[in-house]
Amino acid sequence: MAVDAPIDDSLLRRNANPATLDAVQLSAWFGARKVLERCSLTMEAKKVTALIGPSGCGKSTFLRILNRMHETIPGAKIAGRVDIDGVDIYGRELSATEVRTRIGMVFQKPNPFPAMTIRQNVLAGLKLSGTTSDQKDLLVEESLTRAGLWTEVKDRLDEGGTTLSGGQQQRLCIARALAVAPQILLMDEPCSALDPISTRVVEETITDLADDITIVIVTHNMQQAQRVSDNCAFFLVETQKEPGRIVESGPTTELFEHPRDQRTLDYVTGRFG
Ligand SMILES: Nc1ncnc2c1ncn2[C@@H]1O[C@H](COP(=O)(O)OP(=O)(O)O)[C@@H](O)[C@H]1O
Ligand SMILES: [Mg+2]
Repeated sequence: MAVDAPIDDSLLRRNANPATLDAVQLSAWFGARKVLERCSLTMEAKKVTALIGPSGCGKSTFLRILNRMHETIPGAKIAGRVDIDGVDIYGRELSATEVRTRIGMVFQKPNPFPAMTIRQNVLAGLKLSGTTSDQKDLLVEESLTRAGLWTEVKDRLDEGGTTLSGGQQQRLCIARALAVAPQILLMDEPCSALDPISTRVVEETITDLADDITIVIVTHNMQQAQRVSDNCAFFLVETQKEPGRIVESGPTTELFEHPRDQRTLDYVTGRFG
């Protein structure tokens, strides 16, 4: 039987199950130092939520708490709750591994596995027992297509992942994250090391993915926040000793055009940060 599945019937879309993530009164510490204070934010299913704010205000920490990576840092603690579709990700129902499968992450610096080929990188997060090689091929193609990389690499899938350019490596990491069909994708300044063309491709990918995956993205680029996000949260530390807080959150257009807080206005208009 010919396998010529239309894109809407793809493996990844069929498995799509975007979830809502709710951070409730999240506080975070590194040792004795508190770096986040009671941050509450709903990251709606099928929407892109952007986290903005100056360096050091806790955006990456907040993101890492959302998929239980904060707890891997010695001395790191949290208070508060994170729910995925109403289920506490720190509760008994879910293991850290399951949480990280359902809530994927892409980092600032592309981190493909250096000893693996492009194809192996895409498949790296999967338990492949029982998967036929046809299914693997299809999954590799779909994941790379959705990450906006397929046409550039389809003839070199067995070359090393690190032979790619920085922008391509980041899209490879996005493909690797997508291959496990996560419900939520966390992206920590995914474009900050990329050239403008790769940045544009990644932004288009984000917009396209949001139908099927909930996305939370940290960005320093105000134009990017406006281009890609539906909702936005502005983080700030008032003084170096204070923990970061969410000053304001809401629909991106409101945050940028009619912010309620003067500090938000000052930040989004480039007066500091
Ligand atoms: N592994 C760590 N150990 C100790 N302090 C950390 C660690 N990571 C981040 N911090 C501190 O936590 C605060 C928030 O950092 P971060 O979440 O990286 O902010 P942002 O992503 O907004 O720049 C900063 O003061 C930073 O120095
Ligand atoms: Mg950061």
